[in-house]
Amino acid sequence: MHSYFSLQGRTALVTGGTRGIGRMIAQGLLEAGARVFICARDAEACHETASELSAFGECHALVADLSSEDGAKALAAALEQRIEQLDILVNNAGTTWGAPLESYPVKGWEKVMQLNVTSVFSCIQQLLPLLRKAGNDASPARVINIGSVAGITSHGEDAYAYGPSKAALHQLSRMLARELVAEHINVNVIAPGRFPSKMTRFIANDPDAMARDTALIPMKRWGRGEEMAALAISLASTAGAYMTGNIIPIDGGFHL
Ligand SMILES: NC(=O)c1ccc[n+]([C@@H]2O[C@H](COP(=O)([O-])OP(=O)(O)OC[C@H]3O[C@@H](n4cnc5c(N)ncnc54)[C@H](OP(=O)(O)O)[C@@H]3O)[C@@H](O)[C@H]2O)c1
Repeated sequence: MHSYFSLQGRTALVTGGTRGIGRMIAQGLLEAGARVFICARDAEACHETASELSAFGECHALVADLSSEDGAKALAAALEQRIEQLDILVNNAGTTWGAPLESYPVKGWEKVMQLNVTSVFSCIQQLLPLLRKAGNDASPARVINIGSVAGITSHGEDAYAYGPSKAALHQLSRMLARELVAEHINVNVIAPGRFPSKMTRFIANDPDAMARDTALIPMKRWGRGEEMAALAISLASTAGAYMTGNIIPIDGGFHL
């Protein structure tokens, strides 16, 4: 790997790193040389995934429930016990909720907003001391928030809270990018289109739904793990050192 993309000596945290997009990114960061912590609620999945990903580099599991501010505080406290500085924070854990407009529950709306927006704010807030220790002029610390093209386009299907939550995350990222640039912390957003995961398997498992879905994508296919990993490596490495406040769609042209 070219040194421009090397993450040797860097430490990363990927929230929701046990499956789907988080796992793709965790593997990529490990392959580029970073030490990676992954977290999720399911302790068994955390330890199993960390052990599988250890084939690519030094990977550790931390169990965390980010559905409350206390969860973000506990995660930061656990990390502070283990590391001196955090070079790369990938806020990936996220959720969705689909229901007809007339019966869309406030409970679902609040769950999506809490995990997709509030918990990202809490994680950044709680992990700021470790990020501040990592960032310097030559190599800023990196916050990479996983947004969505659903926060850019008007295609919402029946997931009424999801697009607004991601649009809010995009805006929060721009605000924080502007504020934290002075402290050598870059904040960017990866805005995926479709990638295979538990969240999207209801489409992947239904050939008709899959055909309808890919017909809407200019490249006529879903994204691949290595494509997501390579973008995350770019943002985390020298390739992304002079980039902050960007919302980057990776979606086969769907946002067009
Ligand atoms: N897949 C796509 O096509 C797509 C497109 C655009 C954007 N995205 C975004 O990409 C991110 C990852 O999505 P995905 O599709 O990979 O989803 P996924 O397969 O459902 O994975 C979600 C991850 O987050 C963890 N998680 C969920 N709730 C949590 C909580 N309260 N606290 C801590 N961890 C939690 C899950 O583990 P536990 O359940 O064990 O906690 C899991 O590791 C999300 O932000 C999503 O909105 C996905």
